Amino acid sequence: MCGIIGYTGSRSALPLLFEGIESLQHRGYDSGGVGLQTDSSLTLIRALGKPENLSSKLEERGHWNPQSPAMRSRCGIGHTRWATHGEPSVVNAHPHASRDGHYAVVHNGTIDNLEAIRKQLLTWLPGLELFSETDTELLAHMVMYFVDKEHDLIRAVQLTGCLIEGANAFAVISSRNPGCIAAFRRGSPLLFAKLEHGYLLASDQAAILPHSSSYSWLEDGDVLFLSPDEDPRVLDADDYDVVRESINIEESMRQSSRGDHPHFMLAEIMGQPVTIQRTIEGRIQDGGKPLIRLGGMIDIREWVGHDLSEILLTGCGTSWFAAQVGKRWLNQLGFRAEAPLASELFRSFQGVDRGTLVIPFSQSGETHDTNQAVKWVKERDAKVWSICNVVGSALTRMSNAGMYLRVGQETGVASTKAFTSQVVAATLTGLALVQEREPDRLHTPEIKAVIQAILDLPRQIQNVLDQAAKIREVAESIASSTGAYFLGTGYSLCAAREGALKLKEISYIHAEAYPVAEMKHGPIALIDENMPVIFVAVDEGGPKEWAQSLGSNISEVRARKGQIIVIAEEDSELAGTILSEGSGQVLYTPKTVGVLTPVLSAVVMQLLAYYAAAELGREIDQPRNLAKVVTVA
Ligand code: M6R
Repeated sequence: MCGIIGYTGSRSALPLLFEGIESLQHRGYDSGGVGLQTDSSLTLIRALGKPENLSSKLEERGHWNPQSPAMRSRCGIGHTRWATHGEPSVVNAHPHASRDGHYAVVHNGTIDNLEAIRKQLLTWLPGLELFSETDTELLAHMVMYFVDKEHDLIRAVQLTGCLIEGANAFAVISSRNPGCIAAFRRGSPLLFAKLEHGYLLASDQAAILPHSSSYSWLEDGDVLFLSPDEDPRVLDADDYDVVRESINIEESMRQSSRGDHPHFMLAEIMGQPVTIQRTIEGRIQDGGKPLIRLGGMIDIREWVGHDLSEILLTGCGTSWFAAQVGKRWLNQLGFRAEAPLASELFRSFQGVDRGTLVIPFSQSGETHDTNQAVKWVKERDAKVWSICNVVGSALTRMSNAGMYLRVGQETGVASTKAFTSQVVAATLTGLALVQEREPDRLHTPEIKAVIQAILDLPRQIQNVLDQAAKIREVAESIASSTGAYFLGTGYSLCAAREGALKLKEISYIHAEAYPVAEMKHGPIALIDENMPVIFVAVDEGGPKEWAQSLGSNISEVRARKGQIIVIAEEDSELAGTILSEGSGQVLYTPKTVGVLTPVLSAVVMQLLAYYAAAELGREIDQPRNLAKVVTVA
């Protein structure tokens, strides 16, 4: 995780670096810092906590003064941190300087062979004293050591990059190379953009968006050398000079505004009728003869028709829950499908081969665990169809084909609009696979109903959002609880898992999800008047046994005075009956088909989590300990 920013050009670097740090906070925000080339030395300023603290420190020390050396600097690097080695503190904040003070480094990732590197450094630099607990500090000393030997910054950065193991990206400035930034990437993202007045380097598009409509990605093993008067130099892993392709940032990725909402998360929840519409647009042609149009399918059409034997859907966190919905849907359509967690995939699916289709779900496309799983299946000749939001991200570049969510930048750390669009994307993917294998089946009433339900979703989500005031009341009634259960079955179990994660992430109320019938096998021990139990009960198409099990579990919670909240489909007889028998609150969703029920119930639970967290005064867009993009193992 962690956000890296760098600038070299003809403008004052500090404001650009600070703005970049602010836009990269979704990658971590426990401390931050900037390093600037000032005259013939380096100035490093670091602060604990959010960028405001860094800004105050810059202010206190006079660095924001337009005449200050810091403001006159035209080249520097910046960082926002998510701690891996060493607690959040000023000493551990980046940039880190080399022993001689001539080199400063910002870093994202973890050095897996840390001990070996530390030992080696101590032999190269006897008596070396380390000031921080970070692995990053070692990089600064290594670069210094290699420049002293090789007399060349780019070579020193390359040698340093080659020696470290793990997923890493780092950027270096030196007082001896005015105006220059050198950077290395392997496993962690790094991109750069040419501006009219110089170059920007960043770990994420978010920092580039306000300044440029295009950027280039570094590939694994690349070393980049930026200097204001020359074209960027990129040396690839084989030491060849290469030109990295420039990618246009899609218009849809540029929009990230919270409008009048107090938080990005709320803006993103409220924007879902529009984002779902974007996910669907142009992908369903319904002139009486439905046709699913997913451009990427052309690339794997032949293979799907002849060789596909098994499907694995995977992801982490919220994206994994979307994969679970997709798995159920593909099973329902008659495909052999499983949904392993990305970090566990290689343990459970040794049989992956050229007949396997792997469908990774990821908002960012940069999640380490997901991308590692994809690398592993690719080594076994599986085909990869990715469902991703970020155009040009590492995941999409590794995939054979796939589809974008098109929901625009998701800024709130808790994923919302990406989840609902992932479920829709999974639904469309299933339909597209059926179309390739049994085209006539798309015209059956069952499939036509699903297509119509997809088209109805934006309006139905709006209907749920219109109940925000009621959901807020319920949320406020659970805000003082220390724990909550989310129970569901089938598709609603996937939704319940997402509901529990959402509440936990932003309100810090402990929440767990279980299949409804599991409650009595243990979890019930915790139920008392302080325990809300949210029944995601939107699957009335299920068997009679389902209704009976739901009814008895609700009674069992009631008998122990637990707080009952039921999410049910509108006109639900079952919810009406259950609630007429005693206490409980019901939140209704419009009727839809099974695979799409998690979309509507998730919106209810997003609002529940949001309002509970708001009631508790939590830092909703940047919850403690989390980061938006998890690029470490
Ligand atoms: O970018 P990805 O979708 O791959 O991220 C996966 C998870 O890290 C992510 O969904 C995480 O669980 C979110 N904080 C959920 O709100």
